[in-house]
Amino acid sequence: MNFDASFKKGFASDNWSGVSPEVMQALQQINHGHHPAYGENDSLMEQAQNRFKEVFGQQSQTFFVYNGTGANVLAVQQLLRSWEAVVAPHSAHLNEDEGGAPEKFTGAKILTVESEDGKIRPEQIRPFLNSFGFQHHVQPRLITISQATEMGTLYTVEEIKALADFAHANNMLLHMDGARIANAAVAMKIDFKAMTADLGVDVLSFGGTKNGLMFGEAVVFMNKDLATGFEYNRKQGMQLASKMRFILVQFLSYLENDLWKRNAQNANQMAQLLGQKLNTIEGIRLSRAVEANGVFAIIPKQLIAELQKSYFFHVWNESKNEVRLMCSFDTHEDDVNGFAEVAKSLIGKVQ
Ligand SMILES: Cc1ncc(COP(=O)(O)O)c(C=O)c1O
Repeated sequence: MNFDASFKKGFASDNWSGVSPEVMQALQQINHGHHPAYGENDSLMEQAQNRFKEVFGQQSQTFFVYNGTGANVLAVQQLLRSWEAVVAPHSAHLNEDEGGAPEKFTGAKILTVESEDGKIRPEQIRPFLNSFGFQHHVQPRLITISQATEMGTLYTVEEIKALADFAHANNMLLHMDGARIANAAVAMKIDFKAMTADLGVDVLSFGGTKNGLMFGEAVVFMNKDLATGFEYNRKQGMQLASKMRFILVQFLSYLENDLWKRNAQNANQMAQLLGQKLNTIEGIRLSRAVEANGVFAIIPKQLIAELQKSYFFHVWNESKNEVRLMCSFDTHEDDVNGFAEVAKSLIGKVQ
């Protein structure tokens, strides 16, 4: 076998990186003999459940799934009937990047609001409440937020609480897409529970893949009463892993010895460094504050393609020449310095 590893490390996304060595070791350790399938009668499942209860509280209940889209879609499906709706910022992964899976599997409508910074505020949701009780309109039932957002921004504790309070005061629920919750927790210096259950978040898509797992995400209901029947939903949604042990050991390893924290800390620090370096290059301008592990910058158009040859990254907004540079658990200072040097050396030539 000859694997072609021709891609140089870049800033395309935090899922372009590989697997944390600790997680890989856990995968190898469990890769022997036979083991109960589907997590049934599996002591590893018990360990993982207990670990998640330690993290999110005894009232919580966690289900493991394959990927983030699956976690989001199933969370929505669990909480909505087809005439109900989820309110989301337009930029939400759920709305923009899940290929219509939420609509297909839930039958429910996504009501979107525009948001420059990727965040949604109660006053933007309020107009939808006029639909309550009007049989011709879908009924808003869920609000979804991403933490960190797709724009690299963070909701403050107060903002999350305000949204949760607003939701509950209006007979709605709050979902958090936590594909990057580790980056958010590290940046805000608080733990997972303090950012979710303690503030009134009802259900969380808890990410792992973007911070060092090979695959695997979890749907965490902060109150298990909301989770009734979810196992059937997950099976119908094709997200029940038969070789469940390989997801379980990854999460056990991830939550052990603060691996999640170390990984996210590195990604965030590298994003800060990258932001600082780019800020010193004339002709390049940061377009958003660096709050977690994403850096957004305006780069001259001619430079983008040249730079991408050395370090691949995605253009975020073509009309503004805005690019998105994501740092990962394995981004190294040398990668950041190298990128900044190439940018500096090329910029004079294209201006
Ligand atoms: C905010 C957010 N949510 C969820 C996901 C999950 O995606 P996937 O289904 O690829 O695991 C992603 C991945 O890009 C994401 O950025």
